[in-house]
Amino acid sequence: MDETLAIAGRVAIVTGAGNGLGRAESLALARAGARLVLNDLPGDAVQAVADQIAADGGQAVVAAGDVAEWSTGEKLLATALEQYGRLDIVVNNAGVLRDRMVFTMSPEEWDLVIRVHLRGHFVTTRLATAYWREQRNAAGRPVYARIVNTSSEAFLLGSLGQPNYAAAKAGIAALTVTTARSCSRYGVRANAICPRARTAMTAELMGPAPADAVDPLAPEHVAPLVVYLAGPAAETINGEVFVVHGGGGRGDGPAAGTFGVPGFGHARWHVDAGFGGGRARPCFRRPGALGRVPVRGHDRAGLRDDRVP
Ligand SMILES: NC(=O)c1ccc[n+]([C@@H]2O[C@H](COP(=O)([O-])OP(=O)(O)OC[C@H]3O[C@@H](n4cnc5c(N)ncnc54)[C@H](O)[C@@H]3O)[C@@H](O)[C@H]2O)c1
Repeated sequence: MDETLAIAGRVAIVTGAGNGLGRAESLALARAGARLVLNDLPGDAVQAVADQIAADGGQAVVAAGDVAEWSTGEKLLATALEQYGRLDIVVNNAGVLRDRMVFTMSPEEWDLVIRVHLRGHFVTTRLATAYWREQRNAAGRPVYARIVNTSSEAFLLGSLGQPNYAAAKAGIAALTVTTARSCSRYGVRANAICPRARTAMTAELMGPAPADAVDPLAPEHVAPLVVYLAGPAAETINGEVFVVHGGGGRGDGPAAGTFGVPGFGHARWHVDAGFGGGRARPCFRRPGALGRVPVRGHDRAGLRDDRVP
């Protein structure tokens, strides 16, 4: 395996791990050697993901609960420490939709979406960064710590029927930048993705997968970037928000067999057979007004295509 992806033995929390992107990201993290604490609402789906990871020779335990509850965050951290003795990676992914135009949205629809997405990201971030800060102070040097948050193009594009969701996802981008800036001294690297994937959440919008072809919108195209941002290579990537998907749409079809991160020359890896190429590009930078955190090795020109031919 590419050494930039080496996360063997690292301990990762993934929220919303029972379905869709969270499921694909959990399986990919486990394949890369991470030991997992899987969260979702109570139910069979998240246990099925843990069972699959175990059947494949990996390690995963379930800590179910509403991710916006403080007690769930405490349970996730405690489970990581009790089961594995450490925490290295948090992948905040859990989410819901309650779509409505802003002029017909109920306060309950607003509150639920803001709560699950934004408060859900805050709870784990708050507890994990406090833990890492303590660890850093005890060790006297920065620790290994990664946060991968899940924002959305809905916030970049101002998605019409999603004022609650777009606002929550904008908040997550801001939380990511703030966390990156305030916690980098402890070793924390915080980045976010704006994925595109065919899941239960987008089934109505995206329709069925192609019958006899690689699905460019399979969540498995997004998962490698999450593994990458959870890995050692993200030492030099902090406070970035990436649009990521498997190619397709707007004429950019996938290239067979590889997945690259344009703009990050060393970010190349092979995806499981059957999945084609993908795209990831930084879409949102720390605003100049807030000042910039120096990011070593980052190609600020941005959009160079580094996919392996
Ligand atoms: N699919 C896309 O194209 C797309 C685009 C942009 C952003 N996203 C984001 O990606 C993330 C994953 O979405 P998905 O498409 O895989 O959707 P999904 O519906 O397939 O999965 C979401 C998961 O989150 C879980 N969840 C919901 N509320 C929860 C709570 N309170 N506590 C714990 N778990 C909870 C669900 O049970 C489900 O397993 C979401 O944050 C979503 O907003 C998805």
